[in-house]
Amino acid sequence: MRENQKRRGFLKTGTAVGAGLLLSNLGIAGENKTNPVSGEEMSIWDVFEKRRSVRKFKSTRVPETHIEKILDAARSAPTAGNQQPWKFLVIQDKSKIEELKKECIAKSMERAKSKKDQTAEKLKEKEDKANTYYGDYLSAPVYVIVLTDKESKYPSYNHHDGPLAAGYLILAARALGYGTVFCTDSIPEDITSKVFNIPDKYVRICIIPIGIPDKWPESPEKMKWDEFVVNDSF
Ligand SMILES: Cc1cc2nc3c(=O)[nH]c(=O)nc-3n(C[C@H](O)[C@H](O)[C@H](O)COP(=O)(O)O)c2cc1C
Repeated sequence: MRENQKRRGFLKTGTAVGAGLLLSNLGIAGENKTNPVSGEEMSIWDVFEKRRSVRKFKSTRVPETHIEKILDAARSAPTAGNQQPWKFLVIQDKSKIEELKKECIAKSMERAKSKKDQTAEKLKEKEDKANTYYGDYLSAPVYVIVLTDKESKYPSYNHHDGPLAAGYLILAARALGYGTVFCTDSIPEDITSKVFNIPDKYVRICIIPIGIPDKWPESPEKMKWDEFVVNDSF
């Protein structure tokens, strides 16, 4: 990551306010809204609408400048008392991603073997499924583990601050043309702690792959307006 970018908070360099801020700092606002990866014209409203959870990726590299922009957006998220209690563990080492995959498959097979009435045939089927499942989830070129620090200034607010930053991250990634998924149980926390040697003082919020989707999924059904909005009072 470039030194000057590491030193300056991007909020200090932003020129716009509100919705425009995110996109201007991603370099796709104003006259230049063209998405650098997909060539799409995207407003911030398109970013909200077109973000989807993606679970299979192309292996295409994500340029370092894009990773920086995505992380820069994540750190612009609000936090309680501006405590910024997080760490973003960025993983691009293919051998570590492969190790993660192996550990996930091994855990899933351990679970399968502990079940009653297993046959060799059923176990083989399970193993094939686990290979495909984790092969897809772990097909992205980049993973970010979003962590919060139990020793932060206001730790009781970490469960608000962490997911907000993750939300900014996935929107920023979408603005640049990448798919992501806010991943929790699909890639178990104890495995990421072990593989990446994460100190006990960090709580994992999620692990997020970033990459070009194998294909963009359709939107799952979202709640209707009158199902989720309450006006004035219950
Ligand atoms: C707290 C949380 C936990 C999630 N955990 C997982 C997960 O472990 N695996 C997964 O594939 N998706 C996970 N998701 C993604 C959701 O399944 C997804 O957001 C939802 O199905 C709606 O689809 P959309 O994101 O495309 O709108 C999680 C999302 C959230 C917010």
